Amino acid sequence: MTHNSFMQTVDLCRYYRRGPQEIRAVDEVNLHVERGEFLAIVGASGSGKSTMLNLMAGLDTPTSGRIEVEGTDLSSLTRRQLAFYRAHRVGMVFQSFNLISHQTALRNVETALLFNDTPARERRRRATEILEKLGLGDRLDHRPADLSGGEQQRVAVARALVKGPHILFADEPTGNLDHTNTDQIGELLADLNRQGLIIVMATHDVDMARHLAHRIVSMDYGKLVDTGDDREEIS
Ligand SMILES: Nc1ncnc2c1ncn2[C@@H]1O[C@H](COP(=O)(O)OP(=O)(O)OP(=O)(O)O)[C@@H](O)[C@H]1O
Ligand SMILES: [Mg+2]
Repeated sequence: MTHNSFMQTVDLCRYYRRGPQEIRAVDEVNLHVERGEFLAIVGASGSGKSTMLNLMAGLDTPTSGRIEVEGTDLSSLTRRQLAFYRAHRVGMVFQSFNLISHQTALRNVETALLFNDTPARERRRRATEILEKLGLGDRLDHRPADLSGGEQQRVAVARALVKGPHILFADEPTGNLDHTNTDQIGELLADLNRQGLIIVMATHDVDMARHLAHRIVSMDYGKLVDTGDDREEIS
């Protein structure tokens, strides 16, 4: 592990058993993520990208192998420590936004802070601040149905960021968006990365990955194929 490494996976496997069939969603993957990095994981549908992100975010447990975050094996954490990792170190943005449909943009972001001791007034202040930063200051009271796809995705990004994570996992963050919104979300992610947030993004969109990421790795049937696509030095 280099001095600048934030996370690495070691022989990481996640197999699913379906009757007699074994699906190797993630198969012996060794991947490192550096501080300051914007890493893209590309690959065909079913190649294991979402499974990788869920494992690294502590939302799923490996079949074998391990994930080390700042030198600590995630499997050695207590339940409480793992909950802290998921809640405070990691932000997750899903392809389908996963917003709560009957709640306003502001409530959707505030809700992310419900599970720690943040007082209500502080929750509201932080949620408002991050939504304003993402250009949604005049949409606080809108419900998801009254927001465009790009705006919904920005609310989802706000919700992932409000707790101040060290690393953001973005699973097809622009999968449901048109060109204009895709460009906006891409710019937003690039901006956040320039401010120091580590980003790992799974996408089908190789052009977008080339445009945004420092490094691109590719998955194929659960295996990691290093594309050697190192684009630029991390500032
Ligand atoms: N809960 C599950 N039970 C059984 N198989 C699963 C489960 N979840 C995922 N898989 C299988 O694991 C493989 C990897 O799935 P994964 O969702 O990680 O792919 P992906 O690269 O994210 O695909 P996509 O680009 O379509 O989102 C697929 O073959 C999928 O069918
Ligand atoms: Mg996926």
